[in-house]
Amino acid sequence: MEPAARHLPSVDPAHVVRRLHPVGVHGGAPLTWIETPADVFALAAPALGAAEARLRELVASEVDVVEAIGAYLAGAGGKRLRPLLTALGAGAVGYAGRIDGLMCAGELIHLGSLLHDDVVDDGAIRRGLPAAQRVYGNAAVILTGDFCLARAVLLAATDGGHATVTALAEAVTNMAEGEVLQLQRAGNLDTTLAQYLDMIDKKSAALIAWCAAAAALAAGDSVAAAALASFGRGVGVAFQITDDVLDYATGTGKPAGQDLREKKLTLPLLLAMERVPDLRARLHTDDVAALLVLVRGSGALEAAQAEARRRVDEAVAALDALPPSIHRDALAVLGRYLVERSS
Ligand code: IPE
Ligand code: IPE
Ligand code: MG
Ligand code: MG
Repeated sequence: MEPAARHLPSVDPAHVVRRLHPVGVHGGAPLTWIETPADVFALAAPALGAAEARLRELVASEVDVVEAIGAYLAGAGGKRLRPLLTALGAGAVGYAGRIDGLMCAGELIHLGSLLHDDVVDDGAIRRGLPAAQRVYGNAAVILTGDFCLARAVLLAATDGGHATVTALAEAVTNMAEGEVLQLQRAGNLDTTLAQYLDMIDKKSAALIAWCAAAAALAAGDSVAAAALASFGRGVGVAFQITDDVLDYATGTGKPAGQDLREKKLTLPLLLAMERVPDLRARLHTDDVAALLVLVRGSGALEAAQAEARRRVDEAVAALDALPPSIHRDALAVLGRYLVERSS
């Protein structure tokens, strides 16, 4: 199975749901409809296939271990959310150029950040496999992360041009700042909601925004780029909130309660502290299993999820600035799906 199909539903492009708009309303012109995540994936399947092949080429290096690490993480799967957003963003602006390079640029930045993040977090499992640094060691993994970032920046410059690469550099700057902010604040029980939101906006949403806007930036369409970036920013924050909720769930492919173990004040824990008055004190004394039960029983996970949904609704409204198209619809469907996912 192609890695891209591992988490999102796999559908043959020929099976995209196509419905004809009732004859008469639009003079009988056929319209194509997008309703489900499977439709979205099918719509983008040709572009995702091309990007997947290109990604294999892009992680190639004359230095064996660099290629081994890149291929290890790229081949382990993942949702390919970022390339998917780039492909849909391109469709929504009618981008005529080749898009696989820009799709890969976002995924390469993501790969580099995951390699670095798993060193920083001492992550054990990534994409269902032992995290790369557990196999190849910290030093080679950090440097391969740099390799991925640099390859991505080169692609953004060659395939996208000045505005595209400038925006990418800003996104990567944000990501680095967000990761450091999270590191600094771990264990700080006085972290505020505003600080949490700022941190996830930088560490996750900035790149997702760039991915959605990449083709519009390359096309020089600044109005569409702003709308797509605004959509991506909102969806990115909501996506990270959902990721933080899923940290409290079982069956996600990652161990439950990792953030709690590291005393990371994500939205679920912030909301649980408001709801359970003695939780703050118990964070110092109780074990993780007991704390997990408390947080799950507090209703905080449902409240955080509701906040993620609210933010997606806001993000989707930003797409109104784009002309109607199936790609615009697909972005909306994808945004809503991302906060309902279970892994
Ligand atoms: C994981 O991102 C890191 C976050 C920003 C939450 P994804 O959940 O998109 O990871 P993959 O690409 O599917 O592995
Ligand atoms: C993901 O952050 C990495 C980046 C966004 C750079 P997290 O540490 O929250 O994600 P997981 O839980 O390891 O996937
Ligand atoms: Mg981290
Ligand atoms: Mg991590």
